[in-house]
Amino acid sequence: MSRTVVLAYSGGLDTSVCVRWLADRGYRVIAFMANVGQGEPSAIAVKRAKAAGASRVIVRDLRREFVADFVWPALKANAVYEGKYLLATALSRPLIAKHLVAVAHEMKAHAVAHGCTGKGNDQVRFEVTARILDPRLAIIAPVREWQFRSRDEEIEYALRHRIPIDVSKRSPYSIDQNLWGTSIEAGALEDPWVEPLADTYRSIRSAERAASRPGYVTIGFSRGVPTALNGTRCEAVTLVERLNALGALHGVGRSDMIESRVVGIKSREVYEAPAATILFEAHQELERLILDRELLRFKQGIAAKYAELVYSGLWFTPLKAVLDACVEETQRRVSGTVRLKLFKGSCRVVGRASPHSLYRERLATYSAKDQFDQRAAEGFIKLFGLPYEGRGARGEGRGE
Ligand code: ARG
Repeated sequence: MSRTVVLAYSGGLDTSVCVRWLADRGYRVIAFMANVGQGEPSAIAVKRAKAAGASRVIVRDLRREFVADFVWPALKANAVYEGKYLLATALSRPLIAKHLVAVAHEMKAHAVAHGCTGKGNDQVRFEVTARILDPRLAIIAPVREWQFRSRDEEIEYALRHRIPIDVSKRSPYSIDQNLWGTSIEAGALEDPWVEPLADTYRSIRSAERAASRPGYVTIGFSRGVPTALNGTRCEAVTLVERLNALGALHGVGRSDMIESRVVGIKSREVYEAPAATILFEAHQELERLILDRELLRFKQGIAAKYAELVYSGLWFTPLKAVLDACVEETQRRVSGTVRLKLFKGSCRVVGRASPHSLYRERLATYSAKDQFDQRAAEGFIKLFGLPYEGRGARGEGRGE
C-alpha cells in the first residue's frame, strides 16, 4: 500500500505542482483546502488538484474558528508585530496546520506537506505547529527540495503534466489572503525604495480615490470582543467582512513595511487589513478608557511578546497559553462602544463610552463642576519628586 500524505493546498501554481511532485514519488496525495476567508475554494481549484494527481480533495470552512479562536485572542492582546503588522497570515497558519494534522489522522496518513519556501516564516509556523500536535507525522516541504530554479520552469513542468493552471492570471506578486488581511510581497516590491505600484493593492482604495465624504461606524465590544455594528448585534465573520468593505471604501488599512523574518532576513511586505486596522484602533481606545494606568502599561509588554509568539509560529505553546489567560482577565470589563470616523485613509476614534469607564467628568473638568482637590496636589508632588531632591541639593540637578 502506498503511503499517504495530506498537503495544505491553496489551488495556486506552487501547491498544484507539489501535488504532482508528491504523486510522482509514489505518495497517495490528499489535498486539504482551508477556507479562511480568502474566497470560497473554487470548483476549478478542486479540479486542478485532481488533475495534478490528488486522490481526494477535502475542503473545510474554518472562517468562524479562525475569527473566534485566533483573531479575537490576538485582538484582545493588541498583538502587532514590530509596531505595524496585524498578523493576518501568521494567525491563519496554526489553524490550518491544526486541521492538516486532524485530516492526516482521519486519513491515516503518515505525513503532512506544505508548499512554503525555505526562506519564509510560514514553513516555520506549519512545521512547528504540526510537530507540537503530532511529532510522529513526517513533514514534507517539496518547494525546499525540488529542482526548479524559476517560476517559468515550474510552469513548464505544470504544462508538461497537464495541470490546468491559468498562466494569464498570474500576478507578479506573492499574495496570501484571509478574512483578517492580505499580505503582498515580491515582484517590484523587492526594491524597498520603490513605492508600491497601483496594481499592488487588492481591495483598498487609495486615499486619492477613496470616498469623498467621511464614513462613521460604531462598534460594540463585550469583554474585549466586537459584537455589534452600528447598534445591531452582528455575527463575527459578517462583522469582519463588513468592516473590510467599509475600510476599503475609505482607503483604510494599507501598510508598507520592512519586517524581520524568523529565518533572519529582512523582507519588504505590503499589507491590506481594513477590518483589523479599525478594530485595533477601537479596541485599544476602549482599553484606554477602562483599564487603569498600571494595567495598560503592563499589557503593552504582553502585546509585544504575544505578537512575537504569533509571528514565530509559537501559537500552541505554554507561554502563549499563559499570556492568553492573563489577557482574558484584563478583558473582563472591556465592554462598551467606540465610534470611529474613516476618511481618505485615516481611521480615528471620535467617541467612546462604557459602563466601566474610569473617566470621571467631575474630576477632569475645568468648569465650575470641578470636584478635584487641587490642594492635595501640593503634598503629592513634594513626595513624588522627593527621590530626586538630594541630587538637586548637591548641584547635580541637571543630571550631569
Ligand atoms: N510576511 C508575512 C508573514 O510572515 C506574510 C507571509 C506570506 N506572504 C505572502 N505574500 N505570500 O506573516
